[in-house]
Amino acid sequence: MTSEDIRKSFLNFFEKNGHTIVPSSSLIPDDPSVLLTTAGMQQFKKYFTGELDAQVDFKSQNTTSSQKCFRTSDIDEVGDKTHLTFFEMLGNFSFGGYFKREAIKYAYEFITEKLGIEPARIRVTVFAGDSATADGGVGVPYDKESYDIWHKEIGLSADKISKHNRQENFWGPTGNEGPCGPTTEIYVDNVEIWNIVFNEYYCKPDKSLEKLKMPGVDTGMGLERLVVMMQGVDNVFETDIFHPIMSKIFELRPGLDARVARILSDHLRSSIFLIGDGVRPSNKEAGYILRRLLRRVLAYQVTYDIHADLFPSVAKIVADKFGTFYPEVKKIDEILEVLEMERQKFQTAITTGLSKLKKYENVTGQDAFYLYETFGLPFEIVKELAPAEAVKNLSRQDFDEEFKKHQELSRAGAEKKFGGHGLILDTGELKAHDEEELGKVLRLHTATHLLQAALRKVLGDEVKQRGSDITAERTRFDYSFTRKPTPEELKQVEDIINEVVGKDLPVGFIEMSKEEAEKTGALYFFKERYPEKVKVYYVGHSLDEAFSKEFCGGPHVERTSIIGNFKIAKEESIGAGVRRIRGMVS
Ligand code: ALA
Repeated sequence: MTSEDIRKSFLNFFEKNGHTIVPSSSLIPDDPSVLLTTAGMQQFKKYFTGELDAQVDFKSQNTTSSQKCFRTSDIDEVGDKTHLTFFEMLGNFSFGGYFKREAIKYAYEFITEKLGIEPARIRVTVFAGDSATADGGVGVPYDKESYDIWHKEIGLSADKISKHNRQENFWGPTGNEGPCGPTTEIYVDNVEIWNIVFNEYYCKPDKSLEKLKMPGVDTGMGLERLVVMMQGVDNVFETDIFHPIMSKIFELRPGLDARVARILSDHLRSSIFLIGDGVRPSNKEAGYILRRLLRRVLAYQVTYDIHADLFPSVAKIVADKFGTFYPEVKKIDEILEVLEMERQKFQTAITTGLSKLKKYENVTGQDAFYLYETFGLPFEIVKELAPAEAVKNLSRQDFDEEFKKHQELSRAGAEKKFGGHGLILDTGELKAHDEEELGKVLRLHTATHLLQAALRKVLGDEVKQRGSDITAERTRFDYSFTRKPTPEELKQVEDIINEVVGKDLPVGFIEMSKEEAEKTGALYFFKERYPEKVKVYYVGHSLDEAFSKEFCGGPHVERTSIIGNFKIAKEESIGAGVRRIRGMVS
């Protein structure tokens, strides 16, 4: 049986038994408490709680699906025989339709009759029951009912049924609250293939359990793992699901290390599915997960000199293999554009970072964080590709600690720097303690807008803001640009700014929707998340003929003459393709 046959046979089996086939939901869940979809039950949460009625929406109390899932918990394990980031989960669900007896019988029948698995290969687990947990959870009784069904009705001998605690045999919830309950798991040849959850409770954020009005069934069987078993292969990358991708990678780069090829196959397939569902690389949340996958792919591509055809050829294979069932992966052009943009953005930085990495004798958590911040090298790449000696003491914990420290620092930055004195202005970008500092900061803030506009006039549109920080002493402006500007160019930038200052232009703003604001051509800082309504600040007599326009929260000086004389104090590189200017006014 091919993976397509197995998926279809599962869905057909449950359809014949009164279940409605429901398409997979997106990898981006409705549920704001989770970043990505990790289980088949997520799209059905409201049917378990009774907020929605399955009979109305699906014409049945029972549904079945093959759900796209993504789990970050296994990311470090990818490359072995079984672990993946993206996978498909086959499931059947009931919202008050049937419960333990039918759920167990359906599962057993599908495995033994449709898949033809010998009963002798099967063993199961049930929930042993427990008393109150230390973290405030309440006790849940032993699931004797499931035990009896397996033993007395199905006929499994007692030695094939084991009882386990909450960690093994209790599901839930996804996010910090939701349906949950005891589980029974089915193992074939000692490999867990199917998890059957009996949602009897609603788990609240304080970990207390409330009985659900109607009990429900939620099951999950990982397709990839099932296919390994059915096809009798050694590992998931030898199944028909991954084989075409793996072959292509070896064709593009003969002799590549198998583990690297596996990671590439997994990460590329996952990335394509994420992009297909609308995730875009960013520095936050789901976008950051995608970016992390892609940076690892890029780092391997550079390190092992893998042919540039990698992205297009894998995108095509994924579209051919999965596009019939998941049409969103057929948007090859859009997917390739995202992949290609990310490659262009990071390839140079990653190449520079990798060559720096080779020179380290000892990489500390701080170094790993610097390599990540400046060159985009993910921790796992640092650990893997630095000289082995240099990273033998480096742990993910060291890196995470540094990461956390940095986040705290940037949050508490203002207070720390100013020794905890009160600030009369703190927008994150601008900080001032008193009226005098406020005046200076506003002059420097407007000057910073002029600086960006002038840099783009002199150096071109490649210049984009990467960060800024303004105190009463100076403005510090980070921007993208790939070479060092000449002294003449910097002089020209200063001259343009001082000319605008001399013209005494008015500074104003207009509030409008983000969409409208984008159409005005106003510059915005790519790292920032803007609200639906934004202010566009402009320098000039009108927005149309403005010298500078930017998305900005303000505040600014009212006229450019207030700025005074602007001077660039320092210009330097702070990383591949990123430069920094310090400017002052007098
Ligand atoms: N929700 C259960 C799981 O994902 C079935 O394992």
